Amino acid sequence: MQKISVLCVVGARPNFMKIAPIMHAMRAHATQLEAILLHTGQHYDAAMKDSFFKQLNIPEPDIDLGVGSGSHAKQTAEIMLRFEEVIEDNHPDCVLVVGDVNSTIATALVAIKRDIPVVHVEAGLRSRDRTMPEEINRMLTDQISSRLYTTEHEAETNLISEGICASKIVFAGNVMIDSLQRHIKNAVHYHETLAFNQYDDAPDEYALVTLHRPANVDDVHVLRGLIKTLKIIAKKTPIIFPVHPRTRANLEKFKLETVLNKKNIFPIEPLGYFSMLGMMRDAKFVMTDSGGVQEETTALGVPCLTLRENTERPVTVTEGTNTIVGVEQKVIEEAVNEILVSGGKRGNMPEFWDGQAARRIVEDLEAWLLGLRKNKS
Ligand code: UD1
Repeated sequence: MQKISVLCVVGARPNFMKIAPIMHAMRAHATQLEAILLHTGQHYDAAMKDSFFKQLNIPEPDIDLGVGSGSHAKQTAEIMLRFEEVIEDNHPDCVLVVGDVNSTIATALVAIKRDIPVVHVEAGLRSRDRTMPEEINRMLTDQISSRLYTTEHEAETNLISEGICASKIVFAGNVMIDSLQRHIKNAVHYHETLAFNQYDDAPDEYALVTLHRPANVDDVHVLRGLIKTLKIIAKKTPIIFPVHPRTRANLEKFKLETVLNKKNIFPIEPLGYFSMLGMMRDAKFVMTDSGGVQEETTALGVPCLTLRENTERPVTVTEGTNTIVGVEQKVIEEAVNEILVSGGKRGNMPEFWDGQAARRIVEDLEAWLLGLRKNKS
């Protein structure tokens, strides 16, 4: 019998650690499925892409759309145009998308209009903040998906409240944590990462900071305020700060880079996956606006302060190590002081964040796709 082809899409950095375990599980557990990997090219720098493919042992993409950066409309439209040609040439049986980046919605939209079922991994997360581009991407992708795999229980409640039929939803767990558990043994010690970035004077302990959300880094007032807050916190705890390309560009644009050249602040290049795992694992605490880092710190038992007003991943707060602190200096400082005194939240591992999420997904997917094929014939 001819295998069922599943076109798996990646585009941006956080997609890579989600697709890797799915590709591996398809090979190991779903003999009737044939995975085809497509990279849209949304992220293309070696630091944003190549090292992840290598470390996560993701095969070279079968198809690379080479789209690159641009405004949301341009990037999304370009992906759609190029992806439509791929669909015409390849006729996959199903398109599998992960997460909430522009590549996710762009490819899902093309597929469904060609009557190809869309499968969404990490469905149902909601921040309820429609100014976040990812929130729009999530809601729309979920509406046009035929099978939706969730990472936490609240996601299912969100989907049902938006009219999505419960029979399409499967609670599978967190594939990003599959990757973390598989690779934590390869984590690079932070001394090594700092030495690679020409810092020989590694501190004994540190806070890790990541910032890249448009709401935090595209607005000069917010970014200046956050950098000021980091300077204050650095007086108490050294800060290691891998700088995302978007953030670096804005620090230059707003002439804020020199502010980072302070004692106790270590700005470094974006990290590869193994270095990032080591940085998170060994940090005293983490301050971030990333969604994935909120989950990874929960899985590692490291306190996390989220520099946003909301989270689409509430289980990291109710069960994990996450605290939502926003961007006000006073609130952040108080939360940091609390961690320095008490050690901060240690949390518990959420249900099904057990390294088996990808296996659960591909086993269900194979059975579901076989059912679809049978119904068609
Ligand atoms: C994207 C995702 C975001 C995710 C983040 C992780 C959307 C809407 N946003 O945001 O959800 O958390 O990825 O990084 O899809 N750039 C480079 N090299 C690269 C890629 C980008 O220098 O390889 C620079 C470009 O100047 C580009 C900017 O970074 O304009 C932003 O890239 P983009 O993909 O548009 O969005 P991110 O901010 O990375």
